[in-house]
Amino acid sequence: MALTGQVAVVTGAARGIGKGIALGLAQAGAHVVVSDLGGSTRPWSYRLADRDELAQAAAEVEAVGVRALAVPCDVTQASQVEQLIEVTRREFGRLDIVVNNAGIVHFGQVAEFDEETWTQLFDVNVKGVFLVSRTAIPHLAERGGSIINIASVAGKRGYAGGAAYCGTKFAVVGITQSMAAELGPQGIRVNAICPGILATAMWNDHLNDIMGQSFGKGGREAFDAAIQQFIPLGREQTAEDIAGAAVYLAEAPNVSGVSLNVAGGMEGG
Ligand SMILES: NC(=O)c1ccc[n+]([C@@H]2O[C@H](COP(=O)([O-])OP(=O)(O)OC[C@H]3O[C@@H](n4cnc5c(N)ncnc54)[C@H](O)[C@@H]3O)[C@@H](O)[C@H]2O)c1
Repeated sequence: MALTGQVAVVTGAARGIGKGIALGLAQAGAHVVVSDLGGSTRPWSYRLADRDELAQAAAEVEAVGVRALAVPCDVTQASQVEQLIEVTRREFGRLDIVVNNAGIVHFGQVAEFDEETWTQLFDVNVKGVFLVSRTAIPHLAERGGSIINIASVAGKRGYAGGAAYCGTKFAVVGITQSMAAELGPQGIRVNAICPGILATAMWNDHLNDIMGQSFGKGGREAFDAAIQQFIPLGREQTAEDIAGAAVYLAEAPNVSGVSLNVAGGMEGG
């Protein structure tokens, strides 16, 4: 197993894509710090993960046969991020892989978009990547580790209603390229994954309603219509698909600066 003995931190890992990545890294042999809000949640337009989901995710990772630790952390709070990395070093003695996965979504027309919602999106999706990366860099530099940012196909093309969310994900792609150039000389690789469409809370609890307005149907029907409209391969992506890409990027010694679509052909390259 290529990642045996390595230590990974995954943010937003209580459920969805983050949990899938935590499990994938564990199956490849890494010990995993499973981090998420853990209850300290600010209100959002749909429910974010709670403390029980965080504990459950860590238990599932541990069941793979590696060490797992649940650490609550709001990625927008520098002091909590510092604590996350400090606890990781104290408990595991090293840090090799950081997955900046925590994220939120909100679609809406710019002309009516709420300022506080805009700020919160950029705080979580963009500032969170900066804070976690900044704190982890000195530790990653010790052994030449890697950072994997979860961007989106919405970081490669803009969509009506997506100015805020797409803006955050374009930012993540730019941050990925810049950090890859900056940190390469320290032996740190930085890559992004751009998932397509997955049936996580983002779609189930928000986007199905938004997309449903243009498709004239809601819920799973709207989701299926989106898959048919946007995904050339005609099928949704899964957390396991994204985990496979994360394990590849964690292993690939000569790959840095890429933003890899895992999207069934959506948005080309
Ligand atoms: N679902 C999709 O179709 C899709 C597509 C492309 C990209 N993405 C990206 O994948 C990532 C994971 O999203 P998901 O689809 O699994 O949705 P999700 O809502 O299930 O997972 C996001 C996780 O992030 C956590 N989180 C939110 N704010 C946080 C904060 N301030 N600090 C720490 N954790 C926080 C949530 O509690 C949740 O567990 C996000 O970055 C998202 O933008 C998702």
